[in-house]
Amino acid sequence: MTNDIYILGIETSCDETAASVVKNGTEIISNVVASQIISQKRFGGVVPEIASRHHVEQITLVIEEALANAELKPAELDAVAVTEGPGLVGALLIGVNAAKAFAFANNLPIIGVHHIAGHIYANALMQPMEFPLLALIVSGGHTELVIMEGHGSFKLIGETRDDAAGEAYDKVARVLGLPYPGGPQIDKLAAESDGQIEFPRAWLEQDSYDFSFSGLKSSVINYKHNLAQRGEAVNPAHVAAGFQASVVEVLTVKALKAAKEFGVKQVIAAGGVAANKGLRASLEETFQNEGIPFYVPPIALCTDNAAMIAAAGSAMFIDGIRGNLTMNGKPGMPLSSWNK
Ligand code: KG4
Ligand code: ZN
Repeated sequence: MTNDIYILGIETSCDETAASVVKNGTEIISNVVASQIISQKRFGGVVPEIASRHHVEQITLVIEEALANAELKPAELDAVAVTEGPGLVGALLIGVNAAKAFAFANNLPIIGVHHIAGHIYANALMQPMEFPLLALIVSGGHTELVIMEGHGSFKLIGETRDDAAGEAYDKVARVLGLPYPGGPQIDKLAAESDGQIEFPRAWLEQDSYDFSFSGLKSSVINYKHNLAQRGEAVNPAHVAAGFQASVVEVLTVKALKAAKEFGVKQVIAAGGVAANKGLRASLEETFQNEGIPFYVPPIALCTDNAAMIAAAGSAMFIDGIRGNLTMNGKPGMPLSSWNK
């Protein structure tokens, strides 16, 4: 017997079917992600029923592969951690039910993890968290600034009032005729661009840490329509660069203001849009100049994966938190602090 803690993580909240084994909350032993991107591309986005069907086909194989790669038997695990919410209800249910069946069959505790807590804890796989910390979460469904005073303590100080950052990326990419998911496409175009169109920044009220991206999206659409009326075509790279500059500037400025106001020891970025090269560079440079430690996980741990769910589940396990077999998918689950 060792005192090491091995947690199996399972994630199916959107369009990735993923399973991973993490040791002691910090070390990835295996990490398997089956992406549905090829299928979603055909439809220009995630179709909930199709996502669920993919999860059903993949989930058992993905869990088996994660265990095989980790060279562990179920009996050697300490618990199963699964994304309980938020997300697509049909997609969440596949992961939750797989986790319940696995936990029941192997007599293991089950732990329900909030998807955003997972994104935040992807950082714990890279370096220890130091509190208080500021987390900037930017994904397809979320744009949030969260202060953490300790493990499992989440204080929401700002969030989007309309579209999430990733959603704005995907919608603008669609306007430009780029394939799904649009974030990486816009990122690439912006990096290669030799110019940029000026689009507005949504600062909102002076003391607000909230975000808004739907106005920016509308400006891009209006810009395209205006050109079309004059019989001119858009330069997609210039639009991509201008759009990205607006998103990155607002995210960076608000994150810096919050980091200073709350006197944090560490700033971390998380979520699919944290894979964005322009955003990473801007945050890295800004916080370096301010002397505030800033971290962002490698790209594969920014987009949806199960290692992050296992990492958060490990911290919850260590805190003594256990779920039970009445667990259900919670599509609108709030990011609340876990009770110690
Ligand atoms: O975290 P994630 O994988 O799934 C959610 O929980 O939503 O985030 C997916 C989002 C998509 O909107 C995608 O376009 C965006 O992250 N994304 C990016 C980049 N890579 C993924 N956005 C901007 N630049 C990128 N390089
Ligand atoms: Zn996510």
